Amino acid sequence: MVFKIKNISCIGAGFVGGPTMSVMASKCNDLFFHVVDINDERIDAWNNEDLSRLPIFEPGLKEIIENTRNKNLLFTTNIKAAIESADIIFISVNTPTKTRGIGAGKSSDLKWVEACARQVAEFSKGHTIIVEKSTLPVRTAEVIQKILNSATSDLENAKKSFSVLSNPEFLAEGTAIRDLENPDRVLIGGEDKSAMLLLSQIYENWVPKEKILFTNIWSSELAKLTSNAFLAQRVSSINSISAICEVTGANVREVSRAIGKDSRIGSKFLDSGPGFGGSCFKKDILNLVYLAEYFGLKEVAKFWEEVVNINNWHQKRIAQIVVQKLFGTISSKKIIILGFAFKANTNDTRESAAIRICKDLIYEGAELIIHDPKVSMLQIEKDLQIKQFSSGKNENIDYLNNNIGNWQFSNNLNIFDDAHAVLVLTEWEEYKYIEWDKVAKRMVKPAWIFDARSIVNIDLVKKSGLNLWSLGDGSQQGTKDEI
Ligand code: UDX
Ligand code: UDX
Repeated sequence: MVFKIKNISCIGAGFVGGPTMSVMASKCNDLFFHVVDINDERIDAWNNEDLSRLPIFEPGLKEIIENTRNKNLLFTTNIKAAIESADIIFISVNTPTKTRGIGAGKSSDLKWVEACARQVAEFSKGHTIIVEKSTLPVRTAEVIQKILNSATSDLENAKKSFSVLSNPEFLAEGTAIRDLENPDRVLIGGEDKSAMLLLSQIYENWVPKEKILFTNIWSSELAKLTSNAFLAQRVSSINSISAICEVTGANVREVSRAIGKDSRIGSKFLDSGPGFGGSCFKKDILNLVYLAEYFGLKEVAKFWEEVVNINNWHQKRIAQIVVQKLFGTISSKKIIILGFAFKANTNDTRESAAIRICKDLIYEGAELIIHDPKVSMLQIEKDLQIKQFSSGKNENIDYLNNNIGNWQFSNNLNIFDDAHAVLVLTEWEEYKYIEWDKVAKRMVKPAWIFDARSIVNIDLVKKSGLNLWSLGDGSQQGTKDEI
């Protein structure tokens, strides 16, 4: 019998599952897609009539949802129905770093993936192709296959059969729709050639065949970890160079431009910033570290762990510079934080550099006003684990160390009055057009602009009489002797 794909389900309606299925549904009108999640609030948000209230913000997503939702794309919490009907099931659930037990702090917690595999084993009918979309430790497919095999071992379930494929997602948040519509490559790893071809045919609806790569399953899993590790390592590399630029009088943007012209290096991913964030980089590198340690490759583990260590150091360094420039104390000083998301064009704050930097500044006693066009006050409160200061009441007074500061959220930019400093942490477009001449008049003198994304209008800031610290720009800061 020829196995024909009609119904596709995805478990996990997050930043990966939601946009991926939406784009697939928009490109494959003859297929039907279920996106299922255990979180009913999230599913309700995906089904919200008001498209500006979808659970995630991605440029272009709203328009795609408008054209596909409730046509060939259904967001639901009915996991049983979604699995029963599916010919292909994508697994896009979260795989956080373990906090306890063996591998704590490094390896991924696969409890959700395992739970999904068990549900698939229970509810599926006939032949089902299982596709790993989540970033997973190498050899996870083996775990999934074992769980599924155990389901087929008893007589009642003997009619079930499964093929497990790895098809990692390479989308970056903020450009997810563009990345999905026009991927650099689609990677399909597996052993079952016919299942691989069926998955490939779905992508061929919009992706040129030559961009679809077939590998064995372990190569595919490892390629995803390696890809993220290389990207993160590039960011750590350029950030480490930014520190050298600052003390030598060089400018990291100029260095990036110069090295980026070397076609072997390439010009992308060389923007020095406040340190990489996002749900994947740190987690995936730590997975690689764990894998290397597990196989006794201590030096390899150490090499990759340093990419994460230097990122932590770099984030701390930025908070320290702010304190140092403001005469060694920021106690009770108002500091404006521009941007909390881990990068522009997303409302995601996972592992955002802003979390650590804001916490450090609050613990130094600063009074922060945090602005972000897409992140909510509640999300910031969750991330900082410090309550927002409201109506004259500071709930954060630490009686052992009464220097602790506080923070408030603002959704507009009318916030510069009496501020000692502004710190730009996310490269939102609107920050590029701030009229620093007007802002300067409202701030305390001398006031500082700290630009960790190199986006402010340098000439305007200088003309306005503000002090400027721009990450990695030694020409703004003098040489080490002067600092
Ligand atoms: C996550 C991982 O972070 C990433 O490494 C992986 O590549 C894909 O999955 P993301 O989509 O950004 O990426 O995660 P998240 O936004 O947390 O979404 C996961 C969703 O899965 C959540 O909505 C969660 O409720 C759901 N889930 C989890 C299930 O539906 N069932 C489960 O058993 C567990
Ligand atoms: C990343 C990978 O790019 C993507 O392929 C994978 O599927 C998931 O992980 P994402 O985390 O969404 O995507 O965003 P990305 O654009 O890679 O940025 C990650 C972090 O690095 C951000 O904090 C960003 O600000 C930072 N970054 C990126 C820099 O500081 N400088 C750069 O030049 C590029």
